Amino acid sequence: MRRTQKKLIMPVCLTMASMLAAATSYAQTVTIPVETQNNALVLQTDGEKNLKMVYFGHKLGNAGEYQSILSQYKQADDSGVLNDAYMPSGSASLAEPAITVTHADGNKSLNLVYVSHNVTKIDDDISLLTVNLKDPAYPFEVTLYYKTYFKEDVTEQWSVIKHNEKGLVTLNKFASANLNLKGSGFWLKQYHGNWAMEMQPEEAKLTHGIKTIDSKLGTRANLYEHSMFMVSMDQPATEDEGKVMLGALEWSGNFKIDLELDVSNNLRVIAGINNSASEYHLKPAEDFTTPAFVYTYSDHGKGDASRKLQRWARKYKIVNGEGDRLTLLNNWETTYFDFNEAKLADLMKDTKKLGVDMFLLDDGWFGNSHPRNGDHAGLGDWQENKQKLPNGISSLVKEATNNGVKFGIWIEPEMVNPASDLYVKHPDWVIKQPNRPEKYFRNQLVLDLTNPQVQDFVYGVVDNLFTKNPTLAYIKWDCNAVIYNAYSAYLKKDQSHLYVDYVRGLYKVLERVRAKYPKVPLMLCSGGGGRVDYGALKYFTEFWPSDNTEPLERVFIQWEYSFFYPAITSSNHVTDWGKQPLKFRTDVAMMGKLGFDIVVGRLSENDLAYVHGALKSYDYLKDAIWHGDQYRLQSPWDNDAASIMYVNDGKSKAVMFNYLVNNRYGAGTKVPIRLKGLDPQKKYSLKEINLYPGSNSSIGNDLTFTGDFLMTVGINPDVNSGRASVVIELDEVK
Ligand code: GLA
Repeated sequence: MRRTQKKLIMPVCLTMASMLAAATSYAQTVTIPVETQNNALVLQTDGEKNLKMVYFGHKLGNAGEYQSILSQYKQADDSGVLNDAYMPSGSASLAEPAITVTHADGNKSLNLVYVSHNVTKIDDDISLLTVNLKDPAYPFEVTLYYKTYFKEDVTEQWSVIKHNEKGLVTLNKFASANLNLKGSGFWLKQYHGNWAMEMQPEEAKLTHGIKTIDSKLGTRANLYEHSMFMVSMDQPATEDEGKVMLGALEWSGNFKIDLELDVSNNLRVIAGINNSASEYHLKPAEDFTTPAFVYTYSDHGKGDASRKLQRWARKYKIVNGEGDRLTLLNNWETTYFDFNEAKLADLMKDTKKLGVDMFLLDDGWFGNSHPRNGDHAGLGDWQENKQKLPNGISSLVKEATNNGVKFGIWIEPEMVNPASDLYVKHPDWVIKQPNRPEKYFRNQLVLDLTNPQVQDFVYGVVDNLFTKNPTLAYIKWDCNAVIYNAYSAYLKKDQSHLYVDYVRGLYKVLERVRAKYPKVPLMLCSGGGGRVDYGALKYFTEFWPSDNTEPLERVFIQWEYSFFYPAITSSNHVTDWGKQPLKFRTDVAMMGKLGFDIVVGRLSENDLAYVHGALKSYDYLKDAIWHGDQYRLQSPWDNDAASIMYVNDGKSKAVMFNYLVNNRYGAGTKVPIRLKGLDPQKKYSLKEINLYPGSNSSIGNDLTFTGDFLMTVGINPDVNSGRASVVIELDEVK
């Protein structure tokens, strides 16, 4: 029995005597507050050393009072211990577990008790708390890790599992984190999607029982459901009000997030690798490290929470998050697979003419016995196609240099088309069932990255490109297929390790790439945004949110991604999707990392002049957009116009983007939109920028207002059907 008799008989209403009894038992407890600038997560042992998570929210002024929190909750104790910090299964805990194991002797019961904890201060901002737990009946241990980023209010949590039993232990479930939230109600905002429809939000009140968001797709794991979500407590949080937690699993494979509302109205959030078909056999003394689950909390709404996560990502997670990015011209939608050296030479001239930094050559440059002239052949054969490119990539890199621009290239190194030399040469490198017909996704199969030889091959694809072309400036790394018929010739009897070891293999390759090429920009793409997560983004500078570049759609897609990822990571290309004018398309793409994928030759003189002006503004404002704070002013979901702004760190420069998202008669901005994030004391001059040649601004010239006025009264950008996209620059007047 895990509970003390004392607690079981505690009266429903706390009498003086029972309060004293509680105080006595608290005296034996250990309370561990995990604090950041504004927030706290509190762990506490009970009388039997079971580790509980007793609090999550705004931190208390007096840390001594954390130990009194639990006494204020009336838990349904008989139903099992509900608020374990890392819920084991098969002993006294009967809720959805964070961890389930089969011991070496076949026993499936696990209990975990507190042994010790330790805090290491890594620097002024970062601390690492470790809490050691062990099973009293088996030599089986779990260490919980809480890495806190004080100023950003962000925590990364993971666990390390190990044992010293006589033989293999099977991990049946192995979550990264298990949070217990308290509130009078909980609202989940989750995302689903598909190709060209990423980040479709839904928000609903959680009912009792378990709600699961998961993926079993293997690679391209976020294609149908995304591994980021938010939970509001007490009432649905708005942009600027309410209690909300934002969470994201740092893992590029199968994930599972369970949200269990229990009988005592605790919400348990259990996030980790999906254990479906993934039992993991652990040898004695071997470590199993789960990926991290990153989360933040704010009691000032979703906007504040998202800015915390964005700041953390820029500072600590993504590659060169506080650095620079390259603007570019991509050829995917202008040529698809149909190009040759002459066409590309013209496109490089166009890159220069457009005024961007780099030309990005997309799919179709490789394969000889199986030329990559469509998506049915060539993947795996990473040699230049001799017909299209007789002088190879190196001559293209030179051509780019001659035009004063940089050169980048597309690869999809984890994949293979059956129509390829690689498939014929190494059938055992391919993930497929030996006794079932092959099933393809975009005519291709996935290479078995659990196999070190395949890891070498994939690393070699990248390394060869850079070794042969030292000035190669950029790689777009794609991943267009899911894993069907999961079977690895390499893993033999350990087939259930495939989904986990695939991702570990991928990360090993990316580690090697980053060890040799620490700064080179890499774009994370997966047939659009099928693999956007912080596990992968640790190695990338940016991601491709969606193949859907229709700008109206993009307003919504980028809006939703921005809750979790900073603008500097969002590769936004101006393309010919949709009916919006060039100005609208470019303005939308400027809210992130700007690129183009259009036929430059078809641009009119005015178009080109407009783009040149926009690029100049972008150059001036990119510091605010990339490194500043983002404020969502008006949502596209329930207004005629969407409005978003970015403010630089010194609050001296800002930019406000406004887009008409409703086509109905008379739609537009009727009332002023209140700005955010400015200094109320400062004066700002406002001017409309990105005006198409020949058009004038209707908001007036020489506008100067205080931050106070702009944030209290606001301004009307005058968005209407004749002015569907309005960009306003703000500069401090000294
Ligand atoms: C995926 C990407 C596209 C493009 C194609 C090339 O669909 O998302 O941007 O690179 O592959 O085949």
